[in-house]
Amino acid sequence: MIDDIARIGASAPARISAMASLDELRALEAELLGKTGELTALKKGLGTLDPEERKIAGQAMNEARSTLEALLADRRSVLENAQRAITLASERLDLTEITDELERGTVHLVTQTWDRLVDVFLGMGFTVAEGPEVETDWYNFEALNIPAAHPARGMWDTLYVDLGDPETVLMRTHTSPVQIRVMTDGEPPIYAIMPGRVYRRDTADASHMPVFHQIEGLVVDRNISFADLAGTLEAFTSAYFGGSIHSRLRPSYFPFTEPSAEYDINCVFCEGSGCRTCGQTGWLELGGCGMVHPTVLSNVGLDPEEWSGFAFGFGLDRLALMRHGVDDIREMYTGDVRFLEQFPS
Ligand code: PHE
Repeated sequence: MIDDIARIGASAPARISAMASLDELRALEAELLGKTGELTALKKGLGTLDPEERKIAGQAMNEARSTLEALLADRRSVLENAQRAITLASERLDLTEITDELERGTVHLVTQTWDRLVDVFLGMGFTVAEGPEVETDWYNFEALNIPAAHPARGMWDTLYVDLGDPETVLMRTHTSPVQIRVMTDGEPPIYAIMPGRVYRRDTADASHMPVFHQIEGLVVDRNISFADLAGTLEAFTSAYFGGSIHSRLRPSYFPFTEPSAEYDINCVFCEGSGCRTCGQTGWLELGGCGMVHPTVLSNVGLDPEEWSGFAFGFGLDRLALMRHGVDDIREMYTGDVRFLEQFPS
């Protein structure tokens, strides 16, 4: 029996240190010390020995047990440390990727254009106003001298909102209703621009979107003339496009301005000599303008004998397209990163 105990004791250190995982170690522990283990089996034989031998064998057995337990405990802590190191390594968060080279988005081309326009007009002494995108018939049409059933309503393909009486609430078709709000809420002199999103019942194509942006301008003061309108648009044109681009006005019609005009600029691609973009005319059409109609002034309680003014409105997206030579307005709204990243802000 003593020999058997010695044999177990002698082979144990090598067996224990060969265990590569906690599970293996646990199995070996059961094999050595467990209820059906090797030492326990020997212990059962103690009863057959005479008292003197039993004492010696029992002592040897206890010593062997505590030696084995110590060896097992040492091995267990080595394996546990190794396991912890593996877990830590696998749960480690690599934060070194966050560097200055992280790709950042850019301000959208429409927003860039909006900001630049606002800058230019602020520099010319204008203030900025905004109005709601859902408007009433009064602000979008009536107050602007476009009565119900007037054929001029056909100039705007309107999206009505299902609210209140039929055809009384709508998505604004232009930024001109903000003129009415500015004149109703404040007093002249007024020098304001009104950028914003507008809506039309249009199918998207290369030059149309059902949702797009306009920028409106309104001046109301004493003795404002058509020359002030022409001069302001010319000053804006060279401030925004550079000194080689000029503006011209062509007679047109809008119910809320009289006289009315179309506002054109020299083609920014050929600078007036004629190219594909301007259809060989040398001019690009930017928007509408004119002297505020006396009826519009009366509608907001201003005396047309005392006050006069001019207004203009043009497409903000169109302006951005022209400036950057983009030939399809839909590009602006597909959210394609390859398009957007060409306009770093
Ligand atoms: N609101 C007009 C449009 O959307 C443009 C315009 C604004 C014309 C101001 C004259 C004066 O077509």
